[in-house]
Amino acid sequence: MLRIESAPLEGISTWLFRKTHQQMFGGVNRYFTPFFSPTPERKLTTKELRDLSPENNVGVPVVPQIMAKRPEDFLWAAEEARELGFDEVNLNLGCPSGTVTAKGKGAGFLLRPEELDAFFEEVFKSVCLPVSVKTRIGYHDPAEFGRLLEIFNRYPIQELIIHPRLRGQFYRGEVHLDAFADALAASRLPVTYNGDLVTQEDVAAFSRRFSSVDTVMIGRGMIADPALPRKLRGGPPANREEIRTYVGTLYEGYRTAYGYPGFAAQRMKELWFYLINLFEDGDKYAKKLRRVGNAAEYEHLETGIFRDLELLTQPRKPLDGTGQGKE
Ligand SMILES: Cc1cc2nc3c(=O)[nH]c(=O)nc-3n(C[C@H](O)[C@H](O)[C@H](O)COP(=O)(O)O)c2cc1C
Repeated sequence: MLRIESAPLEGISTWLFRKTHQQMFGGVNRYFTPFFSPTPERKLTTKELRDLSPENNVGVPVVPQIMAKRPEDFLWAAEEARELGFDEVNLNLGCPSGTVTAKGKGAGFLLRPEELDAFFEEVFKSVCLPVSVKTRIGYHDPAEFGRLLEIFNRYPIQELIIHPRLRGQFYRGEVHLDAFADALAASRLPVTYNGDLVTQEDVAAFSRRFSSVDTVMIGRGMIADPALPRKLRGGPPANREEIRTYVGTLYEGYRTAYGYPGFAAQRMKELWFYLINLFEDGDKYAKKLRRVGNAAEYEHLETGIFRDLELLTQPRKPLDGTGQGKE
């Protein structure tokens, strides 16, 4: 049976999303948190603590993701994760954002293979938890991946999650499946595939081509269709009432947790950027959703969507870009 992991999505795959998704739809083996970045102050922010606190993660299999380039920062963050009760941590080597890569972190770390090697050398001397890695196939060119894989292969990385795009592609354009095939052949580590799996047919086609891969990570596809993992297990598609309850639970949950309706509306806007594709003629509302500025506007649109639009059994494709105004 294929293992399914829920991808880290900053602003979307929060503690509330993970908990609600697991309770209502299930089908996911593990949920990855959006990254958190250790700082020299050695203190988790309120936002990070909320996302990682044991009470907000009860009963949900969660892997915290860490963004760091200094081994001491990563080791500190892993220790924090262990104290909070987690049993694995993940390193982010994929974030394409300019502010991150300029610091040599995320996908920026891929440009410095020697430094990366030294980082792993230090980390694996003393890290207190198993470490998985989520990476792109390179910064400028897929040819970079051979050298990177040589490094990864030398360390006891628990799982190598590969999103076969280059940094400059952000989350758009072709996924380099040939580069993924090469990486799979050359990897001595367990490899997980991530990228553009949106429908059951996408997953089936992937599994036909890559039958040895037993784990896939899904991000936008399961935001656009929260029932995708369940359907992949032979379960039914989402029905209207379920989606309504799901959306209502998230909105109410954010309102209660943050006490600021505008914030809750912002979180929901980012979710709807993908979820609107599960509605026929969703385009009509997609533009309006992007312009939502406050909670009242959001609530008005949410009511309109459920009043006016038919639910589809799978999302319209492609699911391009992000809903955060970034590329
Ligand atoms: C809005 C948004 C936020 C993301 N945040 C993170 C993150 O915090 N950490 C990470 O490793 N990847 C992050 N990603 C990348 C996703 O985890 C995933 O690799 C990417 O969306 C491709 O997979 P998908 O096509 O299944 O969505 C983000 C992607 C999007 C669109």
